[in-house]
Amino acid sequence: MNTNFIIRGFGHYAPEKVLTNADLEKIVETNDEWITTRTGIKQRHIAAEDQAASDMACEAAKHALAQAGMKAEELTHIVCGTFTPDSMVPSTACRIQEKLGIKGQMCVDVAAACSGFLYAMQTARGYLMLEPDAKILVVTTEVISRFLNWEDRTTCVLFGDAAGAAILTSGTDDEDAPRVVDITLGADGKLGDLLTVNGGGSAWAYAKGDVVGDDHFVKMQGREIFKHAVRNMCAMSDKVLTRNGLSKEDVDVLIPHQANWRIIDAVARKFEIPEEKVFCNIAKYGNTSAASVPLALSEAVTEGFIKKGDLVLMPTFGGGFTWGAGLIRF
Ligand code: UT7
Repeated sequence: MNTNFIIRGFGHYAPEKVLTNADLEKIVETNDEWITTRTGIKQRHIAAEDQAASDMACEAAKHALAQAGMKAEELTHIVCGTFTPDSMVPSTACRIQEKLGIKGQMCVDVAAACSGFLYAMQTARGYLMLEPDAKILVVTTEVISRFLNWEDRTTCVLFGDAAGAAILTSGTDDEDAPRVVDITLGADGKLGDLLTVNGGGSAWAYAKGDVVGDDHFVKMQGREIFKHAVRNMCAMSDKVLTRNGLSKEDVDVLIPHQANWRIIDAVARKFEIPEEKVFCNIAKYGNTSAASVPLALSEAVTEGFIKKGDLVLMPTFGGGFTWGAGLIRF
């Protein structure tokens, strides 16, 4: 039996506080011109001191549930993608469940950094094949600001905090709703050192009383990542289109992981997708890692950028190294 993977609702959330490029000029040696031309970022949102990844996830989840016309109690699974979890234990998914005021659901975190949304979606699709009646909250949430070295201009200007969510269920062939056509994923652990937050892990453990070092924060080799990102996003896009009998001409909207406007532009050029078909909100939010794709999807839906019948292509890459590409037919 073929399962239809229907998206019943999208939601997103970004914290209130905004940090502009001009604000950053007062923190590190940088300038608006460098950040804008090299990345396309103009500002990013920063979580309040009392906001954890799970708090932002709940906000996005509530919007997605409302759009789906569902109550939180109806959920059967919570799949959360994040590389900035509330804590090592319990999982952020369990925290989200508690904060939504529900219990009993299967709750699990997925760690795939910026590919987190596609990895979480694929995990949810697997559960749906096991349990066709499942009603799954797929939510990705990042408080990256807490894992940035605010003295390192090569990283701190790039990232922002946000959350995005989707409600996934099965459905019938003739149902008039957005559906996941396919997702393909991959990874290469040999490239893991290109982007790390090592400190506190069992291989880089802290002892009681240790002072937190640089390894507690995001470290990355930006230029190297750039090359792998473009190459793998294109390869994955090719793969997912080809195996569904589709070609680049069939793509109506491109919503890639929002890491850098130049990366997005390079992928769009390779696929000959004109700028007006590319949804990009990086200027407002920066790179929000796992949250970036559902944040962009949810905004694109709200703003009417995506029309009924559109085929949306979503290529991603992230620390790990992970990558993937997904297709949604609206
Ligand atoms: O989601 C996955 C997360 N990671 C990524 O997506 C990263 C992908 N990579 C990129 O987006 C780009 O490589 C960056 C935006 C990170 C950097 O852009 P770039 O064009 O590759 O610059 P670069 O690293 O080669 O640095 C060029 C210059 C350097 O100065 P010198 O050595 O040429 O004198 C840097 O020190 O720019 C300097 N620089 C800055 N200047 C002002 C680096 N960061 C800054 C800054 N402000 N914030």
